[in-house]
Amino acid sequence: MIAILEERDAHLADINGVVKIENEVHFSPWSTKNFQDSLTAKNIFKVFFLDDMIVGYYIALIAANECQILNIAIKACKQNKGFGHYLVNHIKNLSRDFHATSIFLEVRVSNVKAIKLYEKNGFNELGIRNNYYKTLNGKENGILMGLEL
Ligand SMILES: CC(C)(COP(=O)(O)OP(=O)(O)OC[C@H]1O[C@@H](n2cnc3c(N)ncnc32)[C@H](O)[C@@H]1OP(=O)(O)O)[C@@H](O)C(=O)NCCC(=O)NCCS
Repeated sequence: MIAILEERDAHLADINGVVKIENEVHFSPWSTKNFQDSLTAKNIFKVFFLDDMIVGYYIALIAANECQILNIAIKACKQNKGFGHYLVNHIKNLSRDFHATSIFLEVRVSNVKAIKLYEKNGFNELGIRNNYYKTLNGKENGILMGLEL
């Protein structure tokens, strides 16, 4: 049983905390400007708190009955406690509220943990994007995953 997270739409003042997490958990982190742009673009940008501390966030875009997950992360020291599942569930519920009928995302082939998380939440592999992501010494494929709601 995981702790209940507090959740709200991100504010400009949250971005420093979000970028700190982003830099510790992502190989190719988004920049501060990427997050600021997400706020102004009116993407869905949710932050999740435990004891007043940001433990995770996601950014999604819902258009034409489709939800696209653009970014999702949990603070490194709070991973493997079920919070990733909690955020994916939150996206599923929010997508239904917005009458989306499917959710899509892209993930690195090497990101086994995230792939397992999505599979456990009903996502299937839809295709491969060749050489989609940079690595330390080259490129790696991306997997396009999707879920019908
Ligand atoms: C992917 C991420 C969001 C998962 O968050 P989390 O809070 O650690 O996830 P949870 O604890 O809810 O669940 C982890 C699931 O991953 C899987 N998992 C955990 N460790 C794993 C490992 N070493 N190898 C394979 N699968 C693993 C399990 O299926 C587990 O589910 P289970 O508890 O039902 O068995 C988090 O690791 C993260 O922020 N990663 C960096 C950013 C990132 O990669 N985002 C996704 C980009 S597409």
